[in-house]
Order: sequence, then structure tokens, then C-alpha cells
Amino acid sequence: MADLPARPVLLTGASGALGRVLAKGLAAEGWALRLTDIAPFPDPLPPGASFTEADLTDGVEILRLAEGCGTILHFGGVSVERPFAEVLAPNFLGLYYIYEAARRERARVVFASSNHTIGFYERDVRLDQDVQFRPDGYYGVSKAYGELMGRMYWDKHGVENVNLRIGGSRPKVNDARTLSIWLTYADLTRLVIRATLAPRVGTLVIWGASNNSRGFWGRDGRDVIGWKPEDSADPFIPEQAGNVSGNPIEERYQGGFFCTIGYSRTEPSPREIFPPK
Ligand SMILES: NC(=O)c1ccc[n+]([C@@H]2O[C@H](COP(=O)([O-])OP(=O)(O)OC[C@H]3O[C@@H](n4cnc5c(N)ncnc54)[C@H](O)[C@@H]3O)[C@@H](O)[C@H]2O)c1
Repeated sequence: MADLPARPVLLTGASGALGRVLAKGLAAEGWALRLTDIAPFPDPLPPGASFTEADLTDGVEILRLAEGCGTILHFGGVSVERPFAEVLAPNFLGLYYIYEAARRERARVVFASSNHTIGFYERDVRLDQDVQFRPDGYYGVSKAYGELMGRMYWDKHGVENVNLRIGGSRPKVNDARTLSIWLTYADLTRLVIRATLAPRVGTLVIWGASNNSRGFWGRDGRDVIGWKPEDSADPFIPEQAGNVSGNPIEERYQGGFFCTIGYSRTEPSPREIFPPK
């Protein structure tokens, strides 16, 4: 059995796709998990885990759930592009409660951020961790805000946080874009383990993608936590390279389909360099 976190770990979004993967994988490492979600946990409860149904916008309940925890793995909330009014409460207010809980408990936050924080970069631009945000919708804006909140809580309160800009973490590579952004469940689980157990992290951004030769992303904070992806989307290149949408906006940008949702430009945007030269 590997190292164990010194204190229990709170996992939000436990009933979601990635939450279920993490609940199973981390429980198998012997971790003491407190699982929570607004939806019931659909699987048998893993050993050493408890589950509480709760809404992220119930601040009192979130503070109570985090009591005694050393790490909050924050995977709950709206996970796709939705109207602003739907994103607002879980992803903005809910995230504030997560950080307040972390401040009170002197806990670390591991935040499921997203590639949609930078979705409007062209696909041939290689990005490092410190590029300016170019979110591709309200969901992406909420994730950029989450990262900024982490920065503020680190500077002001010493709350450590690791922001995982997850690409596409799903069981299979199902289109050409996923060849660039795939994060296997095994690499995700190892990433979360390192982000939790690494002795000191400060505030970090890490690109959540496996070792894909077509990847969009470069430098980040992975060396600080000692994580290296072990898997790759490359074996799926022959099968998926031609699996494109035919939509020029979707195919131009790293964020793919999310960029097209509600898109109302009549002229294509000029190629912009950030920061402007
Ligand atoms: N799966 C990916 O490829 C991917 C990529 C980038 C980022 N992410 C992020 O990772 C996290 C998990 O993603 P996922 O694919 O498992 O998404 P998911 O939608 O399957 O899981 C999100 C969970 O959050 C819960 N939730 C929603 N609103 C809530 C509320 N008000 N209170 C409490 N719980 C609430 C949902 O019930 C759901 O179980 C999300 O934050 C998502 O934005 C995922």
C-alpha cells in the first residue's frame, strides 16, 4: 500500500463520471474518503468511504463535511457548457464555500479545472501553464475563476491548491481532438494521488493530459508533485485521426465543440497573439 494522506479526504462530485473513478481508485489505495454529491452515489460504497448527499451551494453543509479533512478534491459542479444562470450557483458560489472550508481546515484543494479555460487558442499553438485565459464559454469562465480563487487563497491565506486543467478524461478516444487531450482514468488517478500526497505545492497548474504526441500543452507544475503520465492516445491515431466534425470553428480551436455553443461572430476572428506584441 502506498503512502496515505494524514487526514481524511473530501471528494465532491463523487457521483459523477470522474468522481466514481476516483472513489474506487483512491479507496483501493486505502484512503479514508468522504464522498459528497447532489445526486445519490450509484455504486456500492467503497471500503473506508462515507457518502453524504449535499448541494455545493449549502455553505454550512460544505463546512461541516470538510471538518477534519486535509484535502478537498473538488470535482463537483456543472461540468459542461450551460446558460450562465445554471453555472452561477454551483461553480461560483459553491467554489467559494470549498475555499472557505479549506481555509478553516488548513486543507489543500485539488481543483478539477478544464481545458475550456483556454479553449479559444488555436490548435497549433503550444501552451504553457502561464498563458492568459481564453475561456470558451460560461463553464470555462467558471473554471478560470476557480483557478484565480486558488491563487488568492494561497497568497492571502496560505491555502495550497493544485489546479488540474483536465483535457478529456473518458474511457475511450472518440474523436480526433481527443487524440490531443486524452487523460486516461489511470493517469488521472495517479495525478490526483500525487497532487494530494506531494509535501509542498503552493499553487500549481497542471495540464491534465496523458502522454499524447499530438498534445497541445507544454510546461506546468508536474515536477513539483512528481507526476508523469504513463498512458497515451497515440495507439488510436489510425482509428480516430479522420474523425473530425466538419465545423470550422470547432476544428480551429482547442476547446472544440464548446467554442461553437452560442457562437455569434459573423466574421471569423483574426489570429490573435496573447499577450499582444
Ligand atoms: N470528464 C472530463 O473530461 C473533464 C474535463 C475537464 C474538466 N472536468 C471537470 O471534472 C469534474 C468532474 O467531471 P465529470 O466528467 O465527472 O462530470 P460529471 O458531470 O459526471 O460530474 C459532476 C458531478 O457534480 C455534481 N453536481 C452538480 N451540481 C452540483 C451541486 N450543486 N452540488 C453538488 N454536486 C453537484 C453532479 O451531480 C455530478 O455528479 C467537473 O468539475 C468537470 O468540470 C472533467
